[in-house]
Amino acid sequence: MKEGHLPVLAEEVLEMLSPRSGSLQIDATVGGGGHTERILEASKPDGRLLGLDADPAAIDRVRRRLGPRFGDRLVLRRANFRELASVAPEAGFGSVDGCLFDLGLSSYQLADTDRGFGFRAGGPLDMRFDVSRGVPASELLATLDADELTALFRRYGEEPKASRIARAVVEARRTAPVVTAEDLAALVERVAPPNPRQRRRTHPATRVFQALRIAVNEELDALAAGLAAAVDLLRPGGRLVVLSYHSLEDRIVKRFLAAERRGCICPPELPVCVCGHNPRLRLVTRPSVTPTPEEVARNPRSRSARMRAAERLAA
Ligand SMILES: C[S@@+](CC[C@H](N)C(=O)[O-])C[C@H]1O[C@@H](n2cnc3c(N)ncnc32)[C@H](O)[C@@H]1O
Repeated sequence: MKEGHLPVLAEEVLEMLSPRSGSLQIDATVGGGGHTERILEASKPDGRLLGLDADPAAIDRVRRRLGPRFGDRLVLRRANFRELASVAPEAGFGSVDGCLFDLGLSSYQLADTDRGFGFRAGGPLDMRFDVSRGVPASELLATLDADELTALFRRYGEEPKASRIARAVVEARRTAPVVTAEDLAALVERVAPPNPRQRRRTHPATRVFQALRIAVNEELDALAAGLAAAVDLLRPGGRLVVLSYHSLEDRIVKRFLAAERRGCICPPELPVCVCGHNPRLRLVTRPSVTPTPEEVARNPRSRSARMRAAERLAA
């Protein structure tokens, strides 16, 4: 069967989690179920996995595809991983051997012509993983002023031409609001065309799309909350594995792991530790793992992936 979403760094993730029979694992971003499927296969006959996704379509798809094969070894919940601290214990996963975060969006979402995640697929600019929360991206483009849009494109997209693009959005909406992915991609292409000398050609709207998606899903806040909850849920020896796809995500992961490894969270100007925090994690990947050129050739979506993993220490 040809898969719609190829799991990234699948072998490496399995090696890090080494899921055994009888273990309890969490896949906080079940997506197309690629990692989930491999973890359940590797932990047969009775390893169990809790799979979360904020997107109900992902949960439905994985339930249909994997439910009949794995039965009650697979527990699925439509939930944001920022709620992991309450969702996991309620589902019977209060103390686990592994937890995986494979951040960002799946190829199914990118190809969905109704949600505006990708400039190639097009469609109305919604971009929410869960449409019952927050506001669509088109509403931000229709209501934020030029300074607010500039700040958003800079903060979440690290877009160097943020101000020029923001002003063009505000100018364009005087006559017609920017409501589709095609509208936005064309506008960015017009006001911030690609540099012909640039070696790696990405679409000029890539950073703006990323910024809007991060904003409407509050992705960076969710990540910080999800990571903190995951460490609380891990048993000693349990592993946390995170795949990130851009520097903003990876920075949060890297800093989080460094703080948990160090233990002390006192401000650097204090001469002695007063916080009393103990290290809770040991880094397993140092510094990080990226896909091989063969994997990138097979699956171009993996090219920006970076995996970091850590192990929970005994209390
Ligand atoms: C890269 S895909 C995961 C792919 C999956 N590992 C696989 O192999 O098929 C990321 C998924 O995470 C989900 N997601 C992103 N942020 C989330 C959050 N805060 N809470 C729950 N799910 C989230 C997205 O809806 C998407 O389905």
